[in-house]
Parts: sequence; structure tokens; C-alpha cells
Amino acid sequence: MQLPSSILQDRLRAAVAAVCPEADLQSVQVRPCPDPKFGDYQATALMALAKARRTNPRQLASEVLARLEAQDLCETVEVAGPGFVNFRLRPQAVADAVAAAAEEELPFVNRAAQPRTIVIDFSSPNVAKPMHVGHIRSTILGDCLARVFRQLGHRVITDNHLGDWGTQFGMLLLGWKRFLDPDNLARDPISEMERLYKTVHAACQEDPAMMEAARRELVRLQAGDPENRAIWQEMTARSRAEFDRIYERLGVRFDYTLGESFYHPRLQAMVDELVRLGLARESEGAKVIFFDDLPDLKDTPLIIQKSDGAFNYATTDLATLAYRIETWHPDEILYVTDGRQQLHFRQVFAAFRKWRPEAAGVKLVHVWFGSILGEDGRPFKTRSGETVKLADLLDEAEERALQVVSAKQPDLPEDLRRRIARVVGLGAVKYADLLSNRQSDYVFSWERMLSLTGNTAPYLQYAYARIASIFRKGGLSPETARAAVAQGFRLQTPEELALGRHLLDFGLVLEAVAEDYRPNYLCNYLFELAGRFTRFYETCPVLKAPEPERTHRLYLCEVTARVLRLGLDALGVEVLEQM
Ligand code: ARG
Repeated sequence: MQLPSSILQDRLRAAVAAVCPEADLQSVQVRPCPDPKFGDYQATALMALAKARRTNPRQLASEVLARLEAQDLCETVEVAGPGFVNFRLRPQAVADAVAAAAEEELPFVNRAAQPRTIVIDFSSPNVAKPMHVGHIRSTILGDCLARVFRQLGHRVITDNHLGDWGTQFGMLLLGWKRFLDPDNLARDPISEMERLYKTVHAACQEDPAMMEAARRELVRLQAGDPENRAIWQEMTARSRAEFDRIYERLGVRFDYTLGESFYHPRLQAMVDELVRLGLARESEGAKVIFFDDLPDLKDTPLIIQKSDGAFNYATTDLATLAYRIETWHPDEILYVTDGRQQLHFRQVFAAFRKWRPEAAGVKLVHVWFGSILGEDGRPFKTRSGETVKLADLLDEAEERALQVVSAKQPDLPEDLRRRIARVVGLGAVKYADLLSNRQSDYVFSWERMLSLTGNTAPYLQYAYARIASIFRKGGLSPETARAAVAQGFRLQTPEELALGRHLLDFGLVLEAVAEDYRPNYLCNYLFELAGRFTRFYETCPVLKAPEPERTHRLYLCEVTARVLRLGLDALGVEVLEQM
């Protein structure tokens, strides 16, 4: 069934088209009203439209409303303030839409009429280095965006752009040949590679001959020397095995892991082409793209080949972009990295626009995020001052969640408590990360994220489990509640109605997340949903209510649980039927 908000939007667009035939109807949208005092939904587009036509916005709004048939769905449709249109739904329209969800696999969501292809580049850790807290944000945020776009019916391609190529391999190869500790490699390959890198790096500071030796190893690798190639391959394979363990724990998967090395064979030809096209030119021996025509980039030219012939991060990113567009024909490419790479992506995007003007229709977005801070407000570090490794962080999350679960449910058998703790601990870490506005730094607090009250994953997971327990207590299956409500579903008390109204907005919130790449909207939606459910459950008896209220309320519980589960799933957070 079509949702009331989208029916109203279609009708409003038709009315607008009749009054202003020139209007861009895409801009006419019916969205949740920011303040429920004024209505359930709001359309703001008429104000801009009136401005463009130089007419009075309230006047225009009333002309449009005169042509809008909305009585069947709305109690009131009003022009407010400078020309907003506010809609208030009839309770029965809300109830009908909630009842229709019984049939729907993905309730309250409008699947995209025109699915887009979206490439998401996220996580992308560097070989031979541990994944650290910075990568957790990229991994969790990127995975969540992939899930949201998929739920909305888009085609998503995820690509882990592994840092598996670059100058660090000169030192790593040298270290591998001279200082390798095989026992340590077997025990903890990434820490051994990290140690090799640090050892050689330190030696290079003292000894220019060391530096020269490392440089020669790099040149050999790039020239395809079999020995160096084999070592490089082993380093990559061992790193990937470690990364995969983390992805497995987090439930994150990639369609592709091409990595930087994949593009290396294409780089020289690309640079030559850019020079031939006059887009790159030689400057002090290097090949450089200048942005003289772009005021914000004119002082930051982009080097794509250094004077010693080496390529860099940006060279690879340019070639990657071209490959992705040629191969997958995306409408949109997202890069999920921290905010320090903003200049890099502005340069790469600008260079690409010059190089491939025919791809101007592809939307390129740097979805950047801030840092994670410790409770002292400084960058999040271990007690001894080192960067926090992701694997250790996840271990600690499960360990701390186990304490929380054990305090609440001391009688459960230990393996069950551990199972719950895994879901709660990982859910808490993910949720805390997605809850903060991605562009601001946030303070990492175990206490806050694992709290059973407040806007946290455990709180929402408990809300879900509580609903599941209502069904268990009643000896009922959710399917029965769904079937029973096929006809005559009604929402009667203010609490039922408030909950029902909120359910209707699930899909609109997913759309807003996809539009701004901000999962925090969904977190806040789910938190509000759990709150409205609690108010309903505290005021309206469910199992003890007489029929037909009992069935109706059970159904309301069932839909709420389903939306909670789907919403948490879009965030990559699991739920449990029993906690
Ligand atoms: N490997 C990089 C890092 O760890 C992130 C790569 C992001 N993706 C890209 N196409 N540049 O910071």
C-alpha cells in the first residue's frame, strides 16, 4: 500500500503542476513535520516556488490547496507561517497504513522507483598495519550506508580500497629480509610487520645507506622482481586474513577488495594521457595538475608523478575512479574516510572532472567523519599512549558487556551470557559511533554506550527483546497477531496513535539517511520509537486487554518489533529474542 505521505505528495505535485506548470515537481516534498504541534507532515517547497514567480507565498499556497483533495486522509491541511503547508492525518488513515504493514516485507518503506547504482569505498585499511580506531568509523559508517541504500532498493557495490601498495613496502621488504622473527610472525603477523617497519624506519633515520637499500627494494618490487613480489604477496595475504577476522566479527562484507595495487599497471598510461591532454604539466621534474581556474584549489596543485617517477595516493585514486565508472557505471560514488582527507578528495574530484568531463553526471561524495576522543577530550589512546587496535577494542566491548549482562541476569548459563554479550557489546560500539553527528568528534565512553537507559544499542535491544517476551508470555506467535488484524484495525488511545504515527515515518527516515549520509537520523528515530512504545505499553494493557483490543495491541507490538529489528539491521546492529 502507498503510504499517506507519498499519496499526499503525489496529489500535492499534481495540484502544484496545475497552478504552476513550470515548477520543478521533484522539489515538492511531503516530509515529517519538525514539530508535531503543527501537524504530521509538512511541505515547504511552495515558498521557493512563490519567490521564483514573485508572488505572495501564502497566496500561492492557498491556490494550490484549493486544488488539493486530501479530506479522505487528513483532518486538517493548513497554510502556516510564511507559506508552509501542514497536514494532520486522520487517525483512521494512520491505522490503515499500520494495518497494511502486516503484508509487507519491508513495512513503511517506499522502494526506490528508479534504483541507482552506488559504489561505496570504505574501511580500506593499510596492509602490514593494524586496523585502528579510525578505521572502525569508516567500516561501521560505510557498512551502514550500504545497508540503508540496499533496503531502499538501490544497487550497492562495496569496495575495500586496501592500502596494499606504496613507499612503505620498501622498508617492509628490507625489514623482512634482514630482521624477520618467524615465531612472532606466526603468532601475530601484523604486529611483526609493524615491528619490522618501525625497526627499519628508525635505522633509516640514522643511516642513509639503509634508506638507499629500502628505496632499492621498492624499485625492485615495482619492477616485478619475483622474490620481492612473493614477499609482498605474503604480507598482503597475512594482513587480509587478520582484517577478515575483524570483518567477520562485525558482520561486514565487501563485494570487492581490489586494493591500490590493482591499479598500479594503469598509472603510467594515465599520467601520460593527462600530460598529452595538457591537464598535467611538468613542474620541478614532477608531473602536476594545476587548478588555476578553481579559487579554492589554485594554491594546492596535485602531484601525480614525483620527480623520481613514483606515483602516489592521488594518482591511484584518479585511476580508481576511472575504473569504477567504466566497470560499474555508477550514479554515485561515496568515499568514507576521516575529515583530514578532505583536501585530497576535493583535488582528486576536481582533477577527474577536468579529465573526464563526460562523466559529469556521476555524483562523487566524500563522506567524512571526525575523530574519536578519549574521556579526557584528547585523541583516543590506550593507557600507555598507543593508538587503540580495533581487535582489542572489540574484545573489550564483549568483556564489558558480559559484566553488564551478568549483573542483570546472573542466573543464565555462562555460554548464553557470552552470546548475549557479543551482540550487546558489538552493537554498543557500532551504535555509539553511528549516533554521533559524523562530522563532529565524539568522546568514547564505555559507560555511556553500554548503559541500559538512554540512547544506546542495549536499550533498543532490550526494547526489542521485551516485545518478544510479550509474545512468549502470551503463548502467541507474531504471525497470529498479523493475521488477526487483517480487518478493522483501529488506533484508539493517544499513546497507540502516537506510536502508529511514528511507525509510518520509518522509510522517510531511511531516505533522509541516504540523502545526507547520516545514520544518526535513524538512531534518533529508533530511540523515539522505543520511547513511544514504552509510553504505550505503560498506559495500555496488552495481554490483559479484552478483545478486540488485545489483538490490535499485540499487532501494534508486532509491527514495532519488526521496525526496530529492521532499523537496527540497517545500522548493522543485531537483536536477540531473549536477553
Ligand atoms: N587507506 C587509506 C587510509 O587508511 C584510506 C583509503 C580510502 N579510500 C580511497 N579511495 N582513498 O587512510
